[in-house]
Amino acid sequence: MAVSSAVSIADLRRLAERRLPRVVFDYIDGGADGEVTLRENCRAFDDVTLRPRFAVANASCDLSTTVLGTPIDLPFFLAPIGSCRMFYPRAEVLAARAAGRARTIYTLSTLSGCTLEEVKAATTGPAWYQLYLVGGRDVAIAAMDRARTAGYSALVVTIDTPAAGMRERDHRNGITALVSGNFLAMAPYLPQFLIKPGWLSGFLADGGLMKFPNVIVPGQGPMPYTDVGAALAQCALTWNDFKWIRDAWRGPIVVKGVHTGDDARCAADAGADAVIVSNHGGRQLDGVAASIRVLPEVVDAVGGRIEILMDGGIRRGGDVVKALCLGARAVLVGRAYAYGVAAGGEAGVTRAIEILREDVVRTLTLLGCPSVRDLNCSFASL
Ligand code: FNR
Repeated sequence: MAVSSAVSIADLRRLAERRLPRVVFDYIDGGADGEVTLRENCRAFDDVTLRPRFAVANASCDLSTTVLGTPIDLPFFLAPIGSCRMFYPRAEVLAARAAGRARTIYTLSTLSGCTLEEVKAATTGPAWYQLYLVGGRDVAIAAMDRARTAGYSALVVTIDTPAAGMRERDHRNGITALVSGNFLAMAPYLPQFLIKPGWLSGFLADGGLMKFPNVIVPGQGPMPYTDVGAALAQCALTWNDFKWIRDAWRGPIVVKGVHTGDDARCAADAGADAVIVSNHGGRQLDGVAASIRVLPEVVDAVGGRIEILMDGGIRRGGDVVKALCLGARAVLVGRAYAYGVAAGGEAGVTRAIEILREDVVRTLTLLGCPSVRDLNCSFASL
């Protein structure tokens, strides 16, 4: 099946699984520990029921909205996904271009394989930069300077990674051995690559194991892939860090990884312009509630003060609509487009966006609501 024939995100997931070595597919698909939160993020959308108005005539269906004052044509946009370049050659550039063509936001992860400048140049739409403090404060300030100069319009600060989540699938698939550079340790895990020649030839032609060109370590250059685990473990941040981050960035700040009304208030007090209700797609602390369940608590806590976004578990346009009904201004999609880029590069991302867009249009029409901006809790209950 070609990506153009995929009719659902689940189809793109299957195509990604077919093309990728197990370790790469599971890196995208997996979650932390027992993957309870990963599953619950998707399942909890089943508990939200829609309340349609029939026999209304809506001439058209308007999907456009604004996020932090930026107009976008869709109520969803692309979440930061690290190591995308391992999924498909130059994947960040391709995904950004697809997002720009759809006139929505692309969020670039700190842990990307393409430079932030070339990614920004690839999109005609808005782009946000996601910050991890890997490498420390000076490295982060240098990246923020570059991001501002390149034209990124908001900074996404991820707060839910004081330690890397325990992704059991990655360990079973040999991730530690594979990035060690030690051939003897790697050898048992190499057959998974040899049986995926399409992926392997692209990976080798793209330069092999990527580095992180947006994390420039003084005296050393781009951070190598082997160093990422240790670097992440040392980059926990606190609300106090927002003082220097705000001074260095001097633009809109979005706090990603809010799970409670209390943290949402802390983010607003720290000067955030928006929060993303997110549990990192179930990849960090397992056992936390699904994002969609936490959304109403955050809306109650800070809804009148700052904008509220959410991510986690969105696989259908109906999920997007449910989140907007419960108070999100817009949502971010992670795996939905990661499967697409892994299955077929730019065409795969474009197809993922189209599938979600068509779903949202159909859902709005069936709901009897003319615009995503008119959605509210009268259209859904949890
Ligand atoms: C992520 N996520 C993530 N978040 C972040 O702030 N920085 C990052 O580098 C990454 N990297 C990353 C890699 C992969 C493979 C995945 C699946 C996720 C989390 C991401 O931005 C988002 O919060 C979740 O993906 C949302 O859940 P869904 O849409 O994947 O269910």
